[in-house]
Amino acid sequence: MSIWPWSDLVSMVMRYARPAGPTYRILELGCGAGANVPFFLSQQADYYAIEGSAYMVARLKERYPQVAERFVAGDFTADLPFPGSFDLIVDRSSLTHNCTKSIQHCLKLARDKLKPGGAFVGIDWFSSKNSEMRYGEIADDEHTRSNFQQGQFAHVGKVHFSDESHLRFLLSDFNLEVLEHKTVERLEPADNSRFATWNFVARKS
Ligand SMILES: C[S@@+](CC[C@H](N)C(=O)[O-])C[C@H]1O[C@@H](n2cnc3c(N)ncnc32)[C@H](O)[C@@H]1O
Repeated sequence: MSIWPWSDLVSMVMRYARPAGPTYRILELGCGAGANVPFFLSQQADYYAIEGSAYMVARLKERYPQVAERFVAGDFTADLPFPGSFDLIVDRSSLTHNCTKSIQHCLKLARDKLKPGGAFVGIDWFSSKNSEMRYGEIADDEHTRSNFQQGQFAHVGKVHFSDESHLRFLLSDFNLEVLEHKTVERLEPADNSRFATWNFVARKS
């Protein structure tokens, strides 16, 4: 239930895909509890979101009545039911809770929905160097795990982990403009924990 905008998302968007006023169209995949909504609305951008939890979508419609119709409940790996095309499609840690095949399909839908030169910004896609991977069982394909009984992903369902070559493969229909690997090693408590994720900007040529 994160409610504050994610700092990496703010930095990457402002640095590489800065919203340019009310005609700049943004689609967020998996907005969750709406952590990033205040940031996008503060930019006066034309913001839309799709989220799998109908409950969260109903709460967001109540919280932001001025843009209530922009929040859609649905599965972004099946359809992106929005008219027109977007300057920016952004995802923080949402596609990475789906299997490889579903991610591939969603990336194709997203690419089709981007304007030429539009950006797909991905934040916190889980890395295969993330120590939490050890707690899950392989599901669907070799990059997707589920049935986590402990750790950060306990009981959250599917978690997808990418190494560099897999991520480049997933994004091969885009120009990969920025690719960053972020790791945070925890020293205390001394539990060998390593948080590792990918941030990227992939542009439609
Ligand atoms: C870890 S949360 C991230 C939420 C938000 N992006 C944030 O940064 O605070 C992942 C979100 O993605 C949504 N999600 C995952 N797979 C989805 C799918 N196939 N279609 C729609 N929403 C999905 C979940 O319901 C959840 O709200």
